[in-house]
Amino acid sequence: MYRTHTCGELRLENKDTKVTLSGWVQRSRDLGGMTFVDLRDRYGITQLVFDLQKEEALCMSARKLGREFVIQIIGNVIERSNKNNQIPTGEIEVEVEKLVILNGSKTPPFTIEDESDGGDDLRMRYRYLDLRRNPVKNNLMLRHQLSMETRNYLSQNGFLEVETPCLIKSTPEGARDFVVPSRMNPGQFYALPQSPQTFKQLLMVSGFDKYFQIVKCFRDEDLRADRQPEFTQIDCEMAFVEQEDILNTFEGMVRHLFQKIKGHKMDVIPRMTYDEAMEKYGSDKPDIRFEMTFNDLTGLTQNKGFKIFDEAEAVLAIVAKGQAEYTRKQLDHLTDYVRREQIGAKGMVYVKYNADGSLKSSVDKFYTENDLLDWANHCGAEKGDLILLLSGVKTKTQKQLSELRLYLGEQLSLRNPAVYKPLWVVDFPLLEWDEETERFHAMHHPFTSPKKEDFEKMESDPGAVRANAYDLVINGVEIGGGSIRIHDRKIQERMFDLLGFTKEEAENQFGFLLSAFEYGAPPHGGIALGFDRLSSMFGGKDSIRDFIAFPKNNAGRDVMIDAPAFIAKEQLDELYLNVLPFVKK
Ligand code: AMO
Repeated sequence: MYRTHTCGELRLENKDTKVTLSGWVQRSRDLGGMTFVDLRDRYGITQLVFDLQKEEALCMSARKLGREFVIQIIGNVIERSNKNNQIPTGEIEVEVEKLVILNGSKTPPFTIEDESDGGDDLRMRYRYLDLRRNPVKNNLMLRHQLSMETRNYLSQNGFLEVETPCLIKSTPEGARDFVVPSRMNPGQFYALPQSPQTFKQLLMVSGFDKYFQIVKCFRDEDLRADRQPEFTQIDCEMAFVEQEDILNTFEGMVRHLFQKIKGHKMDVIPRMTYDEAMEKYGSDKPDIRFEMTFNDLTGLTQNKGFKIFDEAEAVLAIVAKGQAEYTRKQLDHLTDYVRREQIGAKGMVYVKYNADGSLKSSVDKFYTENDLLDWANHCGAEKGDLILLLSGVKTKTQKQLSELRLYLGEQLSLRNPAVYKPLWVVDFPLLEWDEETERFHAMHHPFTSPKKEDFEKMESDPGAVRANAYDLVINGVEIGGGSIRIHDRKIQERMFDLLGFTKEEAENQFGFLLSAFEYGAPPHGGIALGFDRLSSMFGGKDSIRDFIAFPKNNAGRDVMIDAPAFIAKEQLDELYLNVLPFVKK
């Protein structure tokens, strides 16, 4: 038997028990006649003690143990004279009688400690070692707990977990597909699913009425802290439901998860329309942990000779409470921030509403103190506040001011990761206009149903059609999104038509779904939550990478296994891909 106990288990009650433990050498210390070894496994750390006087040979072998050696020991649990109340096993130690080295280890390339000295790249290359560290291990344990509680909630609510295939045909969720060549069908490719969207809808046609799946999805898109090329969704679909049923069911799930995992009773999740979110926060995923909402100063600021505002479609402002004493340097820093290429504002105007009631702005040349007071009153600013204004094309200005709002929120410590503020954003537009391709794209996906009352605008004013689509946002992160679906062939055809599909293209790509709609498709809808994002949110972190056992880096590479990689010419030949210029030498 390799072990009678784990390294996290022994307490004072186990005193005088003979135990066998196995694990990794975290560190060892020689203190003259005694050698101490910290033995680690998944469950914790237990201190081993080797006494030179009692067991000389054993003590000499213990001194030779290197970091990360895998050992097994047999020994007696004794009370520590020097207790460590930082760890659960800190009241005891094990006096070793027998030591077996199960495997040696090279010196690891970085320290396996909570705070490691290894850089990102090195830790990714040796991910199996990084996973031994508590912070990463704890993240995966949290993820496991979340998946268990998700399954519990959904099963208790009558959902069935059904697996759907990974080798499929393209599903348009807005990203590029990863494709897989088919050896048996020369020149043809499968696509890996961007989500199981069409399959879950087909399951509704099949009568499964409540489906879920914790499922891998694949999207070939630019990567960020909250985006991986392969990621996991809690994917769900329900039949005979309206938007309200779905929001209630999944609000229940979020509540269940917060209760079980954080012991936190959550308030009712507020709802905000897409239009309101854009007007007040300039974002469809507002962080509502703090106010700092937008104010429209377009009318009040124009026709006073300041050309930049006069020519702007919109002049928008936010108020930083109590920050009128921002220094020149701090304001310059904010201006530089909004001028960064990723944000793209031309400049920023500020107004200081000083504590003594005077007002000072960066555009004093054009505006009187009374003008500034009007702005301040319009924004609800008070003495001591700082007002920041951006201007230009409305949609762009909203985006830029949203970035500035978030940045300021961060600087002013208004975005506490221990505070959770979920929000439903509802009534998304059905379509968005793409300047580049000069056509409409589905804002959510092409299977989303327009609101019934907007059906008639589908051809006459497509941009104004709202959808039965909703997002779950927590602390400014889009955690999930879903919609009520089209279940009528004719409406689905009208939608494809709006999106610029020819009849043939629609039939070719989605004939199976259109055809299924002719065999008794029930009204249905659903949602998918990003499971990696949910895990990192519960872990209080921004990056999803450390909540995935083996993630890709920002270039989409797995640097541990070195993928993607070139493949042999024979393999390419077999797949009829031998025309590629990139053949392994
Ligand atoms: P959507 O595209 O909004 O909807 O995706 C749902 C959720 O999945 C997460 N997500 C990602 N997480 C990590 N890396 C990525 N690259 C990534 N892309 C998306 C987000 C997002 O909110 N089929 C629809 C759902 C439906 O309509 O039911 C869908 O996939 O948290």
